[in-house]
Amino acid sequence: MEKILQQIINSNKKYTLDGQVASYIPELRNANSEDLGICVIDMNNSMYSAGDCDKKFTIQSISKTIVLAMALMDNEWDYVFSKVGMEPSGDPFNSIMKLETNDTKKPCNPMINAGAIVTTSLIKGNTLQEKEDRMLAFFRKLAKNDTLQINESVYKSEKLTGDRNRAMGYLLKNDGYIEANVEETLDLYFKQCSIEVTVKDLARIGLLFSNYGIDIETGKRIISEEICRMVKTFMITCGMYDASGEFALKVGIPAKSGVGGGIMASVPRKIGIGVYGPALDKKGNSIGGLRVLKTLSKKLNLNIF
Ligand code: DON
Repeated sequence: MEKILQQIINSNKKYTLDGQVASYIPELRNANSEDLGICVIDMNNSMYSAGDCDKKFTIQSISKTIVLAMALMDNEWDYVFSKVGMEPSGDPFNSIMKLETNDTKKPCNPMINAGAIVTTSLIKGNTLQEKEDRMLAFFRKLAKNDTLQINESVYKSEKLTGDRNRAMGYLLKNDGYIEANVEETLDLYFKQCSIEVTVKDLARIGLLFSNYGIDIETGKRIISEEICRMVKTFMITCGMYDASGEFALKVGIPAKSGVGGGIMASVPRKIGIGVYGPALDKKGNSIGGLRVLKTLSKKLNLNIF
């Protein structure tokens, strides 16, 4: 398996030259655009990796899957879906447009920024610190990694430059989709995006969703089966932003990307996958990561359709 992964990394490395690292958050510019790494964990708990598999990067939008699961665990589902929709937007991840043009002004889904800011607002806690502690603890539990930390300089950079998200937060509050304090919600959102991971952490979290919420090592339930199903459904319909349809057709695996260059993928009852390649395409997805997943899907016959 490791040999196959190494071959896949080698044959797709050249595509990283066609992309660019995210620059709209100044701290993300520091990544090495030619990095490419993968980790796969299967149902026997065997881990295989190749390429830049120990490089740390910020989880960014991949956090949206985890916070969605948390929002659904913290609240009645009907309440959650009264605040955020279930449909792909077909727009870029940071688009504000449909918050004004949709009849209801409700954010389309929890995988775009507007919807994710809503799910973040639904995290329970008496104080902002308590919410942050609960969130980080949940990420650590899913990744089975107690060392996960918030990258403070990325967080500060996001907070300093996140005016578009700020604008969405206030619109959402105005229209009744956020009830919590907007600044606190945004602070938490910037922090969740700034949690540092490696592809091994992503593969571990992906595997938990693949296994419908049961920890493969202990047999303990961490997340309900229904919530895992919902998260993976959102991954397939909205996880790669306005490239989700093409990705579903060409790769056919539930996946979620982030502008840090990570992609987390979950093949139901088979494997969890983490990929890293910070050079992005125009839609904000890892250009090398997409190629790696396409080749892997073909080679191991992973397309769920
Ligand atoms: O909201 C933002 O701008 C980022 N912190 C997260 C965006 C992200 O990862 C979108 N991904 N492709």
